[in-house]
Amino acid sequence: MRIPPLIDDMERQDSGGLTAMLHTLRMCAANHRIPLYLVGGPVRDVLMGLPVRDLDFVVEGDAPFLARHVGSKLGGHVVVHHAFGTASVTLDGDRIDLVTARGETYPHPGSLPKVNPGRITDDLARRDFSINAMAVQVSDDRERLLDPHGGLSDVTAGVVRALHAGSFVDDPTRIFRAARYEQRLGFSMEPETSVWVGQAVASCCVQSLTGDRVRHEIERILHEKYPGPPLMRLAGLGILSQLTPGLDRLPAVERLMGWPSQADPMIYLAALVYPLAGSRAEDLVQRLNMPNSWARVVRDTVRLRELEDELSHPALANSGIIRMLRGISEDAIRTLVLVSHSSVAALVLQEYLDKLRHIGPELNGLDLLAMGVSPGPCVGRMLRELSDAKLDGSVETIDDEKRFVREALVQGGDRQVG
Ligand code: CTP
Repeated sequence: MRIPPLIDDMERQDSGGLTAMLHTLRMCAANHRIPLYLVGGPVRDVLMGLPVRDLDFVVEGDAPFLARHVGSKLGGHVVVHHAFGTASVTLDGDRIDLVTARGETYPHPGSLPKVNPGRITDDLARRDFSINAMAVQVSDDRERLLDPHGGLSDVTAGVVRALHAGSFVDDPTRIFRAARYEQRLGFSMEPETSVWVGQAVASCCVQSLTGDRVRHEIERILHEKYPGPPLMRLAGLGILSQLTPGLDRLPAVERLMGWPSQADPMIYLAALVYPLAGSRAEDLVQRLNMPNSWARVVRDTVRLRELEDELSHPALANSGIIRMLRGISEDAIRTLVLVSHSSVAALVLQEYLDKLRHIGPELNGLDLLAMGVSPGPCVGRMLRELSDAKLDGSVETIDDEKRFVREALVQGGDRQVG
């Protein structure tokens, strides 16, 4: 079947590294009679009229050879993984990925697949969904769409369809992917695919995945424009509570629903764990093998939720707020501003972000030494006392600060300070 001349369209849209790489790649493939195909996401997106950035190619032949040729001709940066027959070329910030066509088998559910060289049809048959299992041969001038699994009609119908009944058991990450595509593209799961997902979830297939693989899928969702809907969908499917009990209720994610995550994907991680008990959140940190940056957001969010009542207390002084929030990650604080079930706590946290955290004494350590404070820990203590006094309103101007220090020295010398 003929489709619009998609490579020409892309070349017209892009005047940088991508165009040069595409041109050189196609020439080289044609000259060496190596069949070259654009595959997966870019084909789907072009057919849907969506913008395309990352280009994935399948080569019925030596992918690293083509990559090296493009790299040496244009001066791009080439990375080759011989073991997998894959290569990438980066030029002027644009990147193309090339893989040698392959078929694959799964030694056991959830494992990484065992791959063998194959034809483009084998390569398409190993993929997750029909909408991602299309290819366009680009090594000759007649661009032909290869669509052995009905991807085009599923794109038209707005359907996410897995290629076979064992797809989700072989690779349970596809459950996360299905939810992501459904929501991103405005599609829905084809009914039989839905049944297969249900069966895979019921068999607790997610247990077979390593923490890194699950986290990678969650991370991809966090980077979607709107992570709320796919997270809610996954919770509804019952797969999140298999990561840690309690993740089937996501009140904070629900509250964030229309909030775009571009500003900071960590806000959605914090919203995800907001309702969890501390021990469950810790289980999740371990289960997903979270890096420190994630673990900190998770722990601080749960800690902050536990502090909500104290933060809402009318007698809480500003200096007390600062002490409570010292060291707590800004992502956790910003999230609670948006999702806290206590509107008073949310206001306090907003005030902390906007105002309180910027309040501090004008005098510095050297000023204090010059005024007679003893060198050493007394300086730090005096600065903290000054800060508290300023936060709580008993000190305002720099003259007030000087008076405060002089009085502290008179009253008890350095010993009294702090
Ligand atoms: N793929 C798969 N099963 C997976 C992961 C990926 O079959 N668990 C296949 C899909 O055909 C997919 C291709 O590998 O189109 C590339 O995967 P990925 O890089 O994750 O997708 P992209 O198309 O680059 O990204 P997206 O679909 O999110 O735009």
